[in-house]
Amino acid sequence: MKDKIKSFVEEISSFKSDDSGKIEAFRIKFLGKKGAVADLFNDFKSVAKEDRKEIGIALNDLKNKAKEKIENLKSSSLPDKKASDKKEDFTMPGYPNELGSRHPLSIVRKQIIDIFSRMGFTLSYGPEIEDDWHNFSALNFPEEHPARDMQDTFFIENKPGATPEEQIALRTHTSSVQVRVMENSEPPLRTISPGRVFRNEAISARAHCIFHQVEGLYINKDVSFADLKQTLLHFSREMFGADTKIRFRPSYFPFTEPSAEMDISCNICGGKGCNICKYSGWVEILGCGMIDPNVLGNNNIDSKKYTGFAFGMGIERITMLKYQIDDLRLFFENDARFLDQFKAAR
Ligand code: PHE
Repeated sequence: MKDKIKSFVEEISSFKSDDSGKIEAFRIKFLGKKGAVADLFNDFKSVAKEDRKEIGIALNDLKNKAKEKIENLKSSSLPDKKASDKKEDFTMPGYPNELGSRHPLSIVRKQIIDIFSRMGFTLSYGPEIEDDWHNFSALNFPEEHPARDMQDTFFIENKPGATPEEQIALRTHTSSVQVRVMENSEPPLRTISPGRVFRNEAISARAHCIFHQVEGLYINKDVSFADLKQTLLHFSREMFGADTKIRFRPSYFPFTEPSAEMDISCNICGGKGCNICKYSGWVEILGCGMIDPNVLGNNNIDSKKYTGFAFGMGIERITMLKYQIDDLRLFFENDARFLDQFKAAR
């Protein structure tokens, strides 16, 4: 019996084939129900007691070797066979390469920039962390003006010994950039400043502590309110359609006199009245006015020689009106189901 086992072990170790039929025949020969290993286990019953241990070990070893050999043969022949059977279907469609989309605020910011660029406005950028002078004082904000109040402005801890005008804060509007433009260049000036602004407001469907503005400035000889109106009418028609009407309501800003808020005819209902315009037919889109002579003087521009207008709008508001978005928080959540809807827009 020992010799039989030994010769089987040799036969197993020398067997080679990549033919699945031959491998199966080999498996049946050794491991089949009536195979060589089963036969030997049957014979084992008659092995003398003293030889049982030795032969038992050899027999188990034979069985394991046979199993291992078959597994090895199968795993090395299988992939080859599969590869040769596999037929590529070149008519299958490819995997689509999904394109990303621009954020709606970026789309509308670009549209606003394009419209004003065509009217000759340049682009200006400035710091988001600003001092009191550029954000407030140079813009004619009285000391006790509520916008300087802790409720609206995110103040940053003061440097020791800083004067009130060096007090640091996150800018509350991009009018601060226009102060920087005025102090660094001579009229005629025609520029817009897009950017992020910060106000200490509770987050809701209508307000956020971070939002985006585009503010504009035009200073030249003989600039009048008529120029302001025509510029903003052109902007509104380019942005919301050729039928758009505008109207001005008197308002107050420290840096403009006279000041106004501008409405456009509701682009959703065409002025007939709907829940977006609260059935008035008009929606507010921006603040504007003629630059206060004090502001020009603060920036060494001769207010007897030059006049100018300024305006400022929230990009979120324009985007909400343009795309009928009713909750401002959607802009900041980056939910792909929201963003994917802007794939077609540019
Ligand atoms: N700076 C104003 C704001 O943030 C907007 C504005 C700009 C108003 C220019 C008038 C003129 O609300």
